[in-house]
Amino acid sequence: MKGKILINAYLDSREYLYEAERLFEEFEKLGVDVSVVRLDKYPAIISDGKISIDFFADFFVYLDKDKYVLTMLEKSGAKVFNNARAIQTCDDKMSTYIALSDSGVPMPKTLPGILCYNQNEKIKEKNIEKIEKELAYPLIVKESYGSLGKRVYLVKNREELLITLETVKTKPHLLQEFVEESRGRDLRVIVVGQKYVGAMERFSDVDFRSNVGAGGKGRKADASDEIKNLSEKIAKILNLDYCGIDFLYKDGGVTVCEVNSNAYFFTFEKVTGINVAKNFAEYILSVLK
Ligand SMILES: Nc1ncnc2c1ncn2[C@@H]1O[C@H](COP(=O)(O)OP(=O)(O)O)[C@@H](O)[C@H]1O
Ligand SMILES: [Mg+2]
Repeated sequence: MKGKILINAYLDSREYLYEAERLFEEFEKLGVDVSVVRLDKYPAIISDGKISIDFFADFFVYLDKDKYVLTMLEKSGAKVFNNARAIQTCDDKMSTYIALSDSGVPMPKTLPGILCYNQNEKIKEKNIEKIEKELAYPLIVKESYGSLGKRVYLVKNREELLITLETVKTKPHLLQEFVEESRGRDLRVIVVGQKYVGAMERFSDVDFRSNVGAGGKGRKADASDEIKNLSEKIAKILNLDYCGIDFLYKDGGVTVCEVNSNAYFFTFEKVTGINVAKNFAEYILSVLK
């Protein structure tokens, strides 16, 4: 059996490359022939109306969120981890909340953003009033696509809200209740094959965001059975083979912040001592058997 670990053409941070290296290592230990392939040089094409792709394998671990090559691989019958639909649902934070809604999964009060197609459009007073009626200040504005805490804004008053809406109004975004109790702190849970693997608490003394990329630190954490069950339920609803779920602390329990189909596990493996790559590789082989 041959597998390929596909990585983005441009990303090359240590944390990103670590994932591919670790998976490669664990597959090798399991006697599986894998290689790491960068999605360079436009490896897929539609020509004469037909898909052709430069490589094939029995399975692909897709460590990218770029959907086109992935959906082309799937359409060509390849076995991919994660699947394209799951990655796309997670990539768009608002779509994640919609997918998880009406299933008993706790999540912060959230308004889908109103998209402007023209940067010159003036934000309407009645729309601001609706936000203020549903969500008190401070509140969170988030671009639907973003990671590492980079496109998440804490807004303290109307003036800041207007400034922030100006920067996000032409991009998919959402408005959300700020969960004060969880300021600078969250719980990252890794789930593989819809089974709970482990948890890490992330905390920051310098920012409301706890992302490791934004100055947050991680430490090993224990999750209650309730959180474990909730995590597995979320992975199942979203049909994810692998994910990292961010939970905010609320009222003695948790509420979902976001689900990462492509969660980095560099810090997670370091602070928890849990072998995520081995878990993921073994799971993939169990599915392919
Ligand atoms: N509604 C919220 N209330 C409190 N903190 C939040 C809220 N949403 C996000 N955060 C903080 O911001 C961080 C980044 O937000 P998140 O939605 O996970 O985006 P990203 O994809 O950039 O990690 C979270 O880990 C959390 O610390
Ligand atoms: Mg996050």
